Amino acid sequence: MWPSGVDRDAATGALRVHGHAVADLAAEYGTPVFLLDEPDFRARAQAFRRAFAGFDVFYAAKAFLTRAVARWVDEEGLSIDVCTGGELRVALDAGFPPSRIALHGNNKSLEELRLAVGAGVGLVVVDSFDEIAMLADVARAQGRVQPVLIRVRVGVEAHTHEYIATAHEDVKFGFSLASGDALEAVRQAAAEEALDMRGLHSHIGSQIFDTAGFEVAAARMVRLMAQVRDVLGLHVAELDLGGGLGIAYVASDDPEPLGELAARLTDIVRTECEHAGLAVPRLAVEPGRALVGPTMLTVYEVGTVKNVDGIRTYVSVDGGMSDNIRTALYDAEYTVTLANRTPTAPLMLARVVGKHCESGDVVVQDAWLPTDTRRGDLLAVAATGAYCRSMASNYNLVGRPPVVAVGPQGARLVVRRESYDDLLACDVG
Ligand code: LLP
Repeated sequence: MWPSGVDRDAATGALRVHGHAVADLAAEYGTPVFLLDEPDFRARAQAFRRAFAGFDVFYAAKAFLTRAVARWVDEEGLSIDVCTGGELRVALDAGFPPSRIALHGNNKSLEELRLAVGAGVGLVVVDSFDEIAMLADVARAQGRVQPVLIRVRVGVEAHTHEYIATAHEDVKFGFSLASGDALEAVRQAAAEEALDMRGLHSHIGSQIFDTAGFEVAAARMVRLMAQVRDVLGLHVAELDLGGGLGIAYVASDDPEPLGELAARLTDIVRTECEHAGLAVPRLAVEPGRALVGPTMLTVYEVGTVKNVDGIRTYVSVDGGMSDNIRTALYDAEYTVTLANRTPTAPLMLARVVGKHCESGDVVVQDAWLPTDTRRGDLLAVAATGAYCRSMASNYNLVGRPPVVAVGPQGARLVVRRESYDDLLACDVG
C-alpha cells in the first residue's frame, strides 16, 4: 500500500519518506498534506512501459495532474489522456507534447474542441454523434485533419462500484456496440474529410480486480474491427483498451501483476485478429489509479478523540471529505498508521473522521489504531494518490491541501495550500 520510499526510523519508530521524517514535513508544510513519492511515481511509469512494451501507455490525468506530474510523465516516455479543457491546459502549460495527448469526454464543449484541435492533440476520443459533426466543423475551420478514436460501450459488467463501472449498457459513455451505434459512428467519422478515423476505444470501469472483463472487452472490440472491415471496408489501426486496473488500498486487496495482464490482453487481441484475418492493431492502455494511486499518502493531525461508549472511538483529523471524498462516495477502504511515533499500545478498532459538518465525513471506516492515539499525533493514510486531491473540494470553505513531492534529495512543494484569500479570490459579490 505504501510507496517504496516509506519506512520507519529504526531508532524513533517514526514514519519517513526517503529518509525525511513525516513529522518534519508536516511541521514545514502543515497538515493535512499530500506527500508524493516522486521516485516511486517514476518507477511505476517505467514499470508500465516495460510491462506494456509495444503499447501506447496514456496516463489518465483525471487521477491527479499538476505541471510537475505532466513533466514526469513526459520524461518517462508515456502519453497522457485528458478529459477537460482544464486538464488539457495544465498538460500544455507543462510543455507536454500535444501529439501524445488524447482528449476524452462525453460532453466536450466547442471551446474544448477548439483548444484541443488548435493545440494539435494526437487523438480526440469521440463519444457522441453530435460530437462527430462538431469536431469535423472545428477541424475544417482550422484547416486540420483530426485523428480520432470511437469510444465503444462494449456491454461488459465490470465488477466494481456501480458509480465507476462504465461499459454496461445503461451509462452515458460511448456508442453502444450491441445497438449498432458504434459501427454507425465509425462510418460517420470516416466519412468526414476533416477527421482521420484511426481506431476504437473501450474503458470498462475503474478499480477492477477481476480482469476477465478486460479480456471480454478486448475480444468484442476485435469482433467490431472485423465488422468495420466487412461492412464498411475500413481498417482499424489502433485499439485503446482504457484504464481501470485496481490497486491495493488494504492488505486483502490483490491486484494482478501488470506483466501478466499485458501478456493476456496481447494474446487475446492476437488470437482474435488471427481468427478474423485482421492485422494486429496498435494497442493502448490508460492507467490512472494504478500509476499514481500508490505513490501518495495523506498526513493528518489528530484533533479530538472521542470514545462513544460501547460502540467505537472516533478519531477526528484536520481534513476529511474535502480532501478524500472516496470513502463517502464509494465506500472506499484505506489503510492508516500512526506516523509520528511507534505504535506500541494495544490496537483498537477506531473510525477516522474529518472536520466537516456531516456524519458521512469519514476518512477510514475501520482503522486499527493504538489505544493511546491522542491530540497532536500524526496519521498517515496510504494510497491517496488517485482521485483524492483531484476530487478535493472547498466544502465548508476549507482550503485544499498542498502536495509535496519527496525524493532522496529533499522535498519541494508542487501544489501550495489554498489560503483564505484564495477562497475569496473568485467571490466578487
Ligand atoms: N480512461 C478513461 C476513459 C477513463 O474514464 C478513466 C477513468 C481512466 C482511463 C482511468 O481509470 P483508472 O485507471 O484510474 O481506474 N473517481 C473514481 C474513479 C473514476 C474513474 C473515471 N475514469 C474513484 O475515485 O474511484
